[in-house]
Amino acid sequence: MRQRQVDNVEQCIIERARKVLPSGGFGNVSFDVVVAKGKGGHVWDESGNEYIDYLLGSGPMLVGHAHPDVTKAVQEQVAKGSTFFANNALGIELAEAIVNGVPCAEKVRFVSSGTEATFYAMRVARAYRGRDKILKFEGGFHGMSDYALMSMAPAKPSNFPQAVPDTAGIPEKVSDEMLIAPFNDTETAIDLIREHANELAAVIVEPLQRMIPPKEGFLEALRDATRDAGLPLIFDEVVTGFRFAYGGAQEFYGVEPDLCALGKVIGGGYPLAAIAGSEEVMAVFDAASVEPERSVKQIGTLSGNPVAAAAGLATIEVLKQPGVYAKVFATGRKLMDGLKASLAKHGIQAQVLGEPPMFDVVFTPREINDYRSTLGADGEMSKRFNSELLARGILKGDHKFYVSLAHTDEDVAKTLDAFDGALAAVAA
Ligand SMILES: Cc1ncc(COP(=O)(O)O)c(C=O)c1O
Repeated sequence: MRQRQVDNVEQCIIERARKVLPSGGFGNVSFDVVVAKGKGGHVWDESGNEYIDYLLGSGPMLVGHAHPDVTKAVQEQVAKGSTFFANNALGIELAEAIVNGVPCAEKVRFVSSGTEATFYAMRVARAYRGRDKILKFEGGFHGMSDYALMSMAPAKPSNFPQAVPDTAGIPEKVSDEMLIAPFNDTETAIDLIREHANELAAVIVEPLQRMIPPKEGFLEALRDATRDAGLPLIFDEVVTGFRFAYGGAQEFYGVEPDLCALGKVIGGGYPLAAIAGSEEVMAVFDAASVEPERSVKQIGTLSGNPVAAAAGLATIEVLKQPGVYAKVFATGRKLMDGLKASLAKHGIQAQVLGEPPMFDVVFTPREINDYRSTLGADGEMSKRFNSELLARGILKGDHKFYVSLAHTDEDVAKTLDAFDGALAAVAA
């Protein structure tokens, strides 16, 4: 394999990291690249190597790194102060923009991470329904809370609806509070919702689960079944919000939940996320408008932070411009098609999954519709493919390509060449 050149300065930083950080890193990625700067669709490491960046900060940088409008908005706000804890006009303006853009959003509560947003969305539903249990889908990722880390990636899946914890450190009893259903298996999911309707507080789902698109009718069936059972349906739109469409996956797939969790793009690269939903359900955040036993406490030092709100507002202002989503989709489609063609050329059996703004390749001959169908995939081959891409100046996360508005035709052409070289190496 070609090697990227790591100079002494970067090597020294990597060694310092190993002394002070568990596993030598922040826990987010498996590779040892120390990123020094980013601009548009590219980043540079501390050794000066340039990469076409499909990691994109794990999704927030949809309009590209250091977009001039975002930088200007942030700099203007930073000069006026960084955080106040009290209300600020930019945060209120961002909430208005979310209400105007996201179909289910009538009210918005800000937090600082996607993990908090899904955690509170589940708590809100429990308070609203006065029940404890939440149904989630096997393989679904909703951040790092005790409730979210159930059957996200179980090595040994159990019978549905039994939950399997994904990490040490979760109190044993939490698994009893989560029910697990198979994604894209409408019949089983609906049966489970009906069977447990009297003890469930909500159903939470990633509308596109990791990279797996919903089968036609699946989200609609969840919508109908939860409505019939009087349960809030929560869409985790931390990734898909403002990425699949201005109104997120709920606009893209045409199914409106009661609540959604937003993050990533709405913070424009800063720590900001939100719970958004119907006025009726979100009322539990307002102690004055619900009974004490339904009132949800929620406070956060950086909630609605004005610098993050400035970055989010400037970002979504860019996304309002005509043709923006068409460009992101066109770029992603060229990359997905090129990847499929390259896989076919090298005789590699694999599935290219996702939607154009966000996709990946899974090395398996099997059609993938749910978590279990990914289990036989060749994970070693994925790692080698990612390393071969990295050596060719393509940076991506372990399981995802994020596409940006800033990626150019030249970037696409270079990436397609890199696909070909990396797959030739993987197939050899
Ligand atoms: C679907 C989904 N939900 C929640 C989260 C958690 O967000 P955060 O990393 O901001 O806590 C993520 C993060 O990637 C995500 O992809």
